[in-house]
Amino acid sequence: MVMPTRFHYHHGHSSSISKIVIFFCLSSFLGLALLANLFRASLSTNYLSIASNWVDTNAPVILIPNNKDPDNPDNGKDVKNTKRRGPQRFLSSTFADLPAPEWHWEQMPSAPVPRLDGYSIQIKNMFYVFAGYANLDHVHSHIDVFDFSLNKWVDVIRMPEEMAHSHLGVATDGRYIYIVSGQYGTQCRGPTAASFSLDTATKKWKTLPPLPAPRYAPATQLWNGRLHVMGGSKENRHAPGIDHWSLAVKDGEALEQQWQDEIPIPRGGPHRACVAVGDRLFVIGGQEGDFMAKPGSPIFKCSRRHEVVYGDVYMLDKNMSWTILSAMPKPNSHIECAWVIVNNSIIITGGTTEKHPVTKRMMLVGEVFQFDLDAMKWTVIGKLPYRIKTTLTGFWDGWLYFTSGQRDRGPDNPQPKQVVGEMWRTKLHLP
Ligand SMILES: *[C@@H]1O[C@H](CO)[C@@H](O)[C@H](O)[C@H]1NC(C)=O
Ligand SMILES: *[C@@H]1O[C@H](CO)[C@@H](O)[C@H](O)[C@H]1NC(C)=O
Repeated sequence: MVMPTRFHYHHGHSSSISKIVIFFCLSSFLGLALLANLFRASLSTNYLSIASNWVDTNAPVILIPNNKDPDNPDNGKDVKNTKRRGPQRFLSSTFADLPAPEWHWEQMPSAPVPRLDGYSIQIKNMFYVFAGYANLDHVHSHIDVFDFSLNKWVDVIRMPEEMAHSHLGVATDGRYIYIVSGQYGTQCRGPTAASFSLDTATKKWKTLPPLPAPRYAPATQLWNGRLHVMGGSKENRHAPGIDHWSLAVKDGEALEQQWQDEIPIPRGGPHRACVAVGDRLFVIGGQEGDFMAKPGSPIFKCSRRHEVVYGDVYMLDKNMSWTILSAMPKPNSHIECAWVIVNNSIIITGGTTEKHPVTKRMMLVGEVFQFDLDAMKWTVIGKLPYRIKTTLTGFWDGWLYFTSGQRDRGPDNPQPKQVVGEMWRTKLHLP
């Protein structure tokens, strides 16, 4: 905390005047100190009301000048000006965490490999965990299979050579899994339009007609007999696509030669949850913009670009018209396989939210959200063991499971760090 107090001693006056001046200075110093403490106390109470498994109330606070543009990257460096401007507010690195009940989590066997940007499909007790990055220079080309009834990793399935390794679109009909487009290779390499289906009963692959144009992490779902694919990022990995295509499929095969054009999605971009519930299709959260390959880099090295994370929720009805519903409690992205449907609610675990306004660092999400499909309302219902993005989430026999993703740096630092394969579960009790 910066105390802008200065003492000016004047010499050559009578001692009583000096005493009064000193007394006055000391009292104002004490007064300021008291105010500062009150301010600190009120801040602490705010933070304390947040459950404390990953919120450190002693987290370092960052000084923000009140009257500067939070999007200016020079923000906070201009210390001289900051001092002169007076009123200041304080922003903890953990300020985006929402109050949420703490849950008891039980650790289960970790996946055979750690994964970032992996994908998952649950079919009854079987949980198929696809592809992903082990790190930016290594991608997986297989599926690990977890059996919820045995709580064991029980199988490995090779993926076709031509299949993308991250930023896929995935959906299932309960036996066949459809895998659409995505990024092919490490770092920020280009996408492929190649699309496939897997018969989980025979572990046989088939090809599907390629998507009309490749997309990174498009919202994908099987809905009324058609595979719907929309949004995502376009070929340069950054530009949000709003195109929407569909393909009639049955038993792992396309019933048409080509994808059909459908009504575009109101807002484009990758890393959104896409959930079908009866006649309605929901597209939740996501972002516009993403990392891009550094121009000229022989390894397509990822470099950060401007991105906007949002919490928008769009619903498509059977008349193929979009409705905007209430947004998530905070902007959230990287949640394409972070959801399950339980008791007519969509439950979402973790993600990434808007970058920190001062440090500009990416911030992960550690809350569990519920979207009640009767009330069409969001609630924050619990906390994960840590903040994490690109979780793969399942639900079995009353237990909410999640595995994999990139977790935070610690309780007081929501920036991404370690890529994990850990699996956790908690007994879910919806309010
Ligand atoms: C679909 O359109 C029909 C005819 O215009 C209308 O009666 C119906 O309410 C619409 N359904 C939805 C879900 O909007
Ligand atoms: C779902 O609803 C059923 C019936 O009301 C209830 O028994 C069950 O506990 C609920 N599940 C969860 C996860 O809350």
